[in-house]
Amino acid sequence: MSASEEYPWKGPATTGTRGAFIVVEGLDRAGKTTQVKKLCETLYASGRNVKTLRFPDRTSPIGKMIDSYLQSKTEMDDHAIHLLFSANRWEKAKHIRGTIAQGYTIVCDRYYYSGMVYSAAKNNPALDLQWARQCDVGLPRPDKVIFLDLEPEQAEKRGGFGDEKYEKKEMQKEVRWEFMRLRFTPGESSDMIVVNAGPAIEEVAEKIWQDIHPTLTMIQEGMLNELGTVKAWRDDDVEWLGAKVLGGARS
Ligand SMILES: Nc1ncnc2c1ncn2[C@@H]1O[C@H](COP(=O)(O)OP(=O)(O)OP(=O)(O)O)[C@@H](O)[C@H]1O
Ligand SMILES: [Mg+2]
Repeated sequence: MSASEEYPWKGPATTGTRGAFIVVEGLDRAGKTTQVKKLCETLYASGRNVKTLRFPDRTSPIGKMIDSYLQSKTEMDDHAIHLLFSANRWEKAKHIRGTIAQGYTIVCDRYYYSGMVYSAAKNNPALDLQWARQCDVGLPRPDKVIFLDLEPEQAEKRGGFGDEKYEKKEMQKEVRWEFMRLRFTPGESSDMIVVNAGPAIEEVAEKIWQDIHPTLTMIQEGMLNELGTVKAWRDDDVEWLGAKVLGGARS
């Protein structure tokens, strides 16, 4: 079922205002897809027009190459696959801006944050977070990013990881550590909300709703007119990356 059929347009809750761009991020099995659905239902019930997106979008030709890589059917250089993931987001950039301008709120399952941290988690010295982020500079910037935080051990209990390339506990630990670094980087943390993904589904959903509601209200009241753009990091962001977080422990 397409997103537009799932949440048919029902006229603007407030005329003339754009929609919000909300991203849900986190480790594998943290509950992203579950919470994207819950959030869409709540947004729609509150009178807003809603569309969902998910990355990678495996339906496009680039998405099919990514899918083949994730299923270990093809091998690819770390940089090459990273750029394909980014290209997969760029394919949707105009769509995101256009949809938001029409008054839809977009709830997006993963975005460039996952793109950066999964590549950086490979510990390839020629592909660090800063390198990984560069190709996403210029993309639409979300109004809020909900980061669902869960220990890999807890995530694993949720039905176990699948067979895809990154679905291994060791990799997930690295990914969590890279996410943690992002959370301490001023250029990212300013619009990131960390939510403990451990409690029951309804409880997590309620917390997300409470946390994003002020942003939705500000957009609805025209206080945040323009959808932002992903900007290059400044020097202090890069300094933070070099700083020790969590005592420097990777896991
Ligand atoms: N708060 C929760 N408590 C317990 N189980 C949960 C919770 N949230 C989601 N689950 C369950 O955990 C599993 C993974 O959830 P979901 O598919 O939403 O995660 P995901 O982050 O989208 O995973 P993936 O990264 O693999 O796409 C599902 O079986 C889901 O029902
Ligand atoms: Mg999912």
